[in-house]
Amino acid sequence: MKFLELAKQRYSVRAYQDRKVEPEKLEKILEAAHVAPTAANRQPVRLLVVQEEEGLLKVAKAANIYQAPLAVIVCADHEKAWVRSYDNKNTCDIDATILTDHMMLEAEELGLGSVWICHFRPDVLREEFQIPDNLEPINILAVGYSSESPASPERHSQTRVPVKDIVLGDFSL
Ligand SMILES: Cc1cc2nc3c(=O)[nH]c(=O)nc-3n(C[C@H](O)[C@H](O)[C@H](O)COP(=O)(O)O)c2cc1C
Repeated sequence: MKFLELAKQRYSVRAYQDRKVEPEKLEKILEAAHVAPTAANRQPVRLLVVQEEEGLLKVAKAANIYQAPLAVIVCADHEKAWVRSYDNKNTCDIDATILTDHMMLEAEELGLGSVWICHFRPDVLREEFQIPDNLEPINILAVGYSSESPASPERHSQTRVPVKDIVLGDFSL
């Protein structure tokens, strides 16, 4: 499928079938994370892959993951990430987010649904998964087979501001 078709087809899934993600699909999702770019190729991102019942219950203490059968907790190491010298901006969030986006779109291509989750309690995740201080949990990607009826790929003209509003300054095609 062409990239734009895939991107338009993807929607946030908040109800999942009671069906596990196959190991070969998980492997491809992790491969998509592996090839994602990071600033200065510092690769500060670490993934906690949670599929077992016990682990999913722990994630559910920190966030609503909509009973998805797979949750990837995307963490980044502040000490490893590139820092812009002019203003000391650390690119942890950006690097973690590129990996998350790659995984989300790969999941879509594999016929899986997903939802990106930032509404979580980092303190609870830290406690439940013994996440060390240098790693910050930045995103959770919940993945599984959707039990929703798919959102329309044509919905973006209604659900997004027009392109002219996201491009600053004078612009016309
Ligand atoms: C950075 C980020 C954080 C998000 N956090 C949550 C969340 O905590 N819970 C949730 O249900 N959806 C979350 N979402 C999903 C957005 O609400 C959703 O992508 C947006 O409304 C557009 O809908 P669509 O994904 O169906 O196109 C998040 C998305 C992004 C990109």
